[in-house]
Amino acid sequence: MKLVRYLANLGYGSRKQVAQLFREGRITDAHGEVMYADDPLHHETLRVDGELLDPPPGLLLMLHKPVGYTCSTKDPGRIVYDLLPPRFRLRSPLLSSVGRLDRETSGLLLFTDEGALLHRISSPKSKLAKVYEATLASDLRGDEANTFSSGTLMLESEQTLLLPADLEVIDPRHVRLTLHEGRYHQARRMFAAVGNHVEALHRSQVGGLVLGELAVGDWTILSQEHQEALLS
Ligand code: URA
Repeated sequence: MKLVRYLANLGYGSRKQVAQLFREGRITDAHGEVMYADDPLHHETLRVDGELLDPPPGLLLMLHKPVGYTCSTKDPGRIVYDLLPPRFRLRSPLLSSVGRLDRETSGLLLFTDEGALLHRISSPKSKLAKVYEATLASDLRGDEANTFSSGTLMLESEQTLLLPADLEVIDPRHVRLTLHEGRYHQARRMFAAVGNHVEALHRSQVGGLVLGELAVGDWTILSQEHQEALLS
């Protein structure tokens, strides 16, 4: 691929704008030597204004989503893309979130530009575990874990039963819920179905990948090892 197109696809500007960067000598190699638009492409050695390039396509990143941000690109309020470098929104292939978290849910949110990976993580067939920590408005009754694990729960306005889910009780108002699917507002609707209300919801894990110490609002690029952990 030609350098102008490559850099435009990484979000450095339109092809016209990137061509201008070349003319201004702002694209160099690692030693500061000016590069030309028809030079061969070596991602690692390219610099824009002396800075390393953003990661190449095949990007997988994890964001610690704060409460109050939506996963949509169109919402007029705060959106999760505001927390990433603006260039990331201009990339082609597109960097999109893997599924969604509600505006009022915090925690682990993945983004990728790799269609096959997106499909592998979010496909209903993958049944990847998603772990949520929930704070409830009322004390548990005691039968919720059995109801959730039974595979016989049907949410309002749905036509298929939920897959069995695991409920770990931390105390009567704090639970850890592990889901293997991702229906709309699933955790909140499950607790509504057993007469409770979720006051706070946080996703701490997807597959074998944990949010860990990542601060609220921060993001990190995931390595191949992380990707393997995620899918394990
Ligand atoms: N379940 C919910 O209710 N909301 C989320 O954001 C994720 C799971």
